[in-house]
Amino acid sequence: MNGPNLNLLGKRQPEIYGDQMLADVEADCRSVALEFGVDIRFHQSNREYELIDWIHEARESGAAILINAGAFTHTSIAILDALNTFDGPVMEVHISNVYKREAFRHHSYISQRADGVIAGMGVQGYQLALRRAIALLQDGSIDVRVG
Ligand code: DQA
Repeated sequence: MNGPNLNLLGKRQPEIYGDQMLADVEADCRSVALEFGVDIRFHQSNREYELIDWIHEARESGAAILINAGAFTHTSIAILDALNTFDGPVMEVHISNVYKREAFRHHSYISQRADGVIAGMGVQGYQLALRRAIALLQDGSIDVRVG
C-alpha cells in the first residue's frame, strides 16, 4: 500500500528515491509472492481515505499489510487508528533513510503499530518487508484472524 506522490516514483527526486518506477516495485513484489505462493494486492493513492479503506478491506481479506504511507507517515493519526484495527503483521517501508533527512521525517505514527520498519534500503525494502511478513505468518509468531 503506497501513499501520496509514490505514483511519481522514478521521476520524483531520483537522487533520493532512485530511478525505478512503482510498476517495477510491484513486479519485484509479485515475484517474491510467486516464490512463496501468496497473493498480493498492490495499491497507490494520493488520498488518505483510500488508504484507510484498503486497510479496512485487509481486515476482511488480508493477512499482512506492507505500507509506505509517504508523508502521511508523519501526520496521520487516522491511518494509525485504521492499522490498529488490523490483526496481522504490519510492515512499514520507506525507500529513503528518513532518519538522515529533515527532523519532521523522524517521527512516524505508523511505527507505533508496525511490527517491522525498513528505511533507506531503496526500493529493495519492499521485497525485504514482504519476505519478513511472510516469515512471520509462516512461523505463527503473529496470530492472524482474517474477517
Ligand atoms: C518516504 C519518506 C517520506 O518522508 C516521504 O514523505 C515520502 C516517501 C520514503 O519512502 O522514503 O513520500 O516514505
